[in-house]
Amino acid sequence: MVVRFAFQSDLPAVNLLRKQLNDLHVAGKPEIFKPGFPAELRDYLYAVFDDPDKELVVAEQDGSILGFAILNALHRPETPYMFERRYLDVDELCVAESARRQGVGRALIDFIRNYAGVRGFSRVELNMWEFNRDALAFYEALGFTTYRRYMELPVEQEEEK
Ligand SMILES: CC(C)(COP(=O)(O)OP(=O)(O)OC[C@H]1O[C@@H](n2cnc3c(N)ncnc32)[C@H](O)[C@@H]1OP(=O)(O)O)[C@@H](O)C(=O)NCCC(=O)NCCS
Repeated sequence: MVVRFAFQSDLPAVNLLRKQLNDLHVAGKPEIFKPGFPAELRDYLYAVFDDPDKELVVAEQDGSILGFAILNALHRPETPYMFERRYLDVDELCVAESARRQGVGRALIDFIRNYAGVRGFSRVELNMWEFNRDALAFYEALGFTTYRRYMELPVEQEEEK
């Protein structure tokens, strides 16, 4: 298996994995994620491919795309209450269902960490949905730690009086 930056010819195969990822999010958070895989979602990958601040990384074996990650080089300028921040954000990451637990995800993260170092980023960041316990176990196994949380409180709707 090789981990490398994507070629344009990889994009249809990556979109098949992005559909798996969207289905997982729809199943886990149906009140937020829309079912299906519309043209806008498909075309987003082509925009990523053309964006100089983004990178698409794939894991390939014998011509098959087993996994991918979208990377985003982010720069947050200094504000009155925060220092300037530069970091490499992992926007989407997925391994084909049939190829999981074989080290593909680990190989993607190893590549990303190495690339971040080469590009001078001192940190790789990502956010994930709390329902996705498999992803949390994976990221923690690879050394990621949680430094910020999103929380929610369901509110029952009452009839207006
Ligand atoms: C999360 C995901 C990327 C992991 O990829 P993977 O190739 O299966 O992971 P690896 O085989 O490299 O696993 C590395 C280590 O992470 C941990 N790990 C991975 N998946 C795990 C799981 N489901 N449960 C518990 N630990 C897990 C293990 O410690 C594993 O090492 P081991 O297999 O030697 O025990 C993959 O399950 C996936 O694509 N899930 C669906 C999409 C998704 O959730 N993406 C991330 C959120 S956006």
